[in-house]
Parts: sequence; structure tokens; C-alpha cells
Amino acid sequence: MSSDQASKKELLAVKGTHDILPGEVEIWQKVEAAVAGLFERYGYRELRAPIIEHTELFEKGTGETTDIVTKEMYTFVDKGGRSITLRPEYTPSVARAILEHRLDLLGTPMRYYYIGPMFRHDKPQKGRYRQFHQVDVEVFAEKDPAIDAEIIEMADTLLRSLGVVETETLINSVGCRACRPGFSRELRAHADKVRDGLCEDCRRKIETNPLRIFDCKVESCRALAKDFPQITGFLCPECSDHFAGVRRYLDLTGVAYRVEPNLVRGLDYYTKTTFEVINLSGGQQNAVLGGGRYDDMMKDFGGPDLCGIGFACGVERLIAMLSLKPDPRKFVYVVHAGEAAKAKAVELARLFRHNGVETLVEFAGRGFKSQFSRANKLGAAWVLIIGEDEVAKGEFLLKDMAAGTQVAGTPESLLAAIIGRI
Ligand code: HAM
Repeated sequence: MSSDQASKKELLAVKGTHDILPGEVEIWQKVEAAVAGLFERYGYRELRAPIIEHTELFEKGTGETTDIVTKEMYTFVDKGGRSITLRPEYTPSVARAILEHRLDLLGTPMRYYYIGPMFRHDKPQKGRYRQFHQVDVEVFAEKDPAIDAEIIEMADTLLRSLGVVETETLINSVGCRACRPGFSRELRAHADKVRDGLCEDCRRKIETNPLRIFDCKVESCRALAKDFPQITGFLCPECSDHFAGVRRYLDLTGVAYRVEPNLVRGLDYYTKTTFEVINLSGGQQNAVLGGGRYDDMMKDFGGPDLCGIGFACGVERLIAMLSLKPDPRKFVYVVHAGEAAKAKAVELARLFRHNGVETLVEFAGRGFKSQFSRANKLGAAWVLIIGEDEVAKGEFLLKDMAAGTQVAGTPESLLAAIIGRI
């Protein structure tokens, strides 16, 4: 590569990241507003944590055997010699913030949400990015299965309220520290018998975390895993009752779901309920959202014994499923010619804006006609015309661009006419 090409590449967005440009950003704003409004109706409050955390938070929280921690984290040593990581997910950050500020002492249970960027150094492809965005919700100190069902119902409502229909909700229970080791042993024994047929990654998982073999995307591994034992038969009475409770409450909500005994999810912290919503018309990256219960994280962080449950939805994947259109903007474009008109344009734009009307004045020195075509191109609803004569009279012209009609009046009367129509 020539140095010229190298410098060009470096001036492009980093691989796996993307700009959200005007035109698209309005859709993001709509989705963010809809999400925040919905979560607040369910009693959640926003909690904003930093983008960087100590690396150890994710090693301990997300889990040392996960792909995220072993392969995908953006980690660097800062100037103070500390190992810092750009958060690959949000759940450990919320748990940390609760402990750091002892939010639990203000009263439990607690419900938090957040929308923001996450970072994972995975191979970029459609639906998989290195900087992506998640809508995240977490509930702490609610162990009743009714909350598991409520969260799944809320995830479903979120998608339906945005017009998403082609999805399937999968649920499972991955047991707890009491019953999962027995299942892992059984699974390890089965996987070991077919070791040679498994991919290298799965052969390693036999030792580290055999449940994660169910996560493998390699077709031959998936085929072998079909004959492995399923966790459902190994759940302890507590986990089994909890899972029955989740299904009972979920049935009450009417949300359609399918029990998928192989849904283990790629993070180490899950206990009991796990769930995922998949895009039925999606390709490889078909999980729109995923979550579950993580009852040991707080304890493992050295905090109080507070259980947790939550989910995160990928905003890029969600938006790709929507057919939302930005609302048309209704704004005034001010056409002005001459020094006195320019000064008046500045004054009237300020008046209009202070009265809540979106108003655009440009100072590029274009002629009258060219300003009109600019207004047209930008899609202005009205054009306010200010020439020398208008300034002298104190009366201005307002053109309705859609109707093609024009009225004359004082700034106040024109403003009133506009306000009546936005
Ligand atoms: P996750 O399954 O790793 O869970 O991610 C949740 C969602 O984030 C995925 O379903 C997907 O939509 C989106 N996502 C993940 N990675 C990428 C990527 N590289 N590019 C685009 N979108 C992506 C978690 O992150 C857990 N913290 C969820 C949770 C919250 N569990 C309990 N509370």
C-alpha cells in the first residue's frame, strides 16, 4: 500500500464502526424516545455509566471463559498503568455502579435502563459491528419469576410498539450453581465421546464450559449437540419451580414463546432464566435481543446477595427491522438580499426561533433565485422573503411552498400564521 493510500484509509471510519448521518439519525432519535418512554412506563430509571471501566470488571462479571473476554475486548493500558476496557456490554457496569453508590440502600428492588455504545472486536459483517449500540435494562433484588415474565413481556412490547412482527421468543433455564455442575459433568462425558467430530473451539469448551458448545455456529458441532443431554432434566427443584413460574406468568401475558433447551447464551453469569428474541427473516446475526437472570454477580463482586435480571437489544439490528420514516420537518427558510435585509433576517430568525419555529437563514451570499431553489431542495415548508422594500415597509412575504400561495404581513402576524400550522 502506498503511503498515500495508507493515509486515506486512516481518514476513514474505523472498521466495524459507522457514522449515523442526518436522515438516519432521526430514526435513531425516534427509537430512543420510544424505548425510554416505554421503559419509564414500566418503572425504570436511566443510569448512565462511563464507557471505560477497569478490565477486571468484565473479567469477573462477563466471565473469563466467554468469547467477549477472551477475544473481543478493546483493552489498553492508560497513562497511569491501569488496564482499561471499552465496555463490551453494560450489565457489569450497572452492578458496579449500584455497589459503588450503594443504591441498594436507597431501597430495593431497583430498575435501570440505558441506551448507548458498546465495543467488541469481532469480525465485522452485516448486523455485527465493533462499535454497536444497546438498549439495556436491568432489575436487581427481584427473585420472583413474575419479573422474568414481565421483562420478556416488556421486550415483546418494545418490538411490537415499533412495528416488528417477524420474531420468535426463545426461553430456557440454565440452572444454578447447585444443579448446573451435575449437568456439565454429564454433558462433558457425552461431548468427550464425540470429541473428534467437534471443532477446536468446542474441544476446548469440553474442559472449560461444556454448555457453551450449544452456542457453536459450526454445522457439524450443532448436529452432534442435538443428541447431547438437555439441561431441563437436570434442574434442581428450585430452578425447576422458577422456570415453571416464568412460563405460567408468561402464559398470562399472552406473549408467544418457545422453550429452547439449548439456549445457553454466550455469557458466563446466567443463572435460571435465559431468553432471546430472534429475527425470523434475519441472516446469521439473527438475535435482536438477549438476556437472562444473573443471581450471583453482585455476590461475586463482593457485594450484598442481590439477584439480577435484564436484557439488551442491539439498536442497529432493531433499526434494520423497522420501516420507520423520519417525520417531515416543518421549517421556515429566510430568503434575504442586501445588507439591511440580512440584518432583518437575523432579527426575524431570532424572533421565530424564540417562538418555537424552526428557522434557517444562510449567509452564503446566494442570489434571490438560488436561495429559493435551496429552500426547495431542503424541503422548507415556508419561505420568508426579505428584500429592501419589505424592510422599508416593515411587512414581509411568507410563501407556503406546498400550496404555492403567498401572504404579506408583519413579523408577528406571519409568525402567528405559522404557529397555527406546526
Ligand atoms: P448479548 O447477547 O451479548 O447480551 O447482546 C445483546 C444484543 O446486543 C444482541 O442480541 C445483539 O442484538 C446486540 N449485539 C451484540 N453484539 C453485537 C455486535 N457486535 N454488533 C451488533 N449488535 C450486537 C448482552 O450484552 C447482555 N449484557 C444482555 C443482558 C443484560 N443480560 C442480562 N442483562
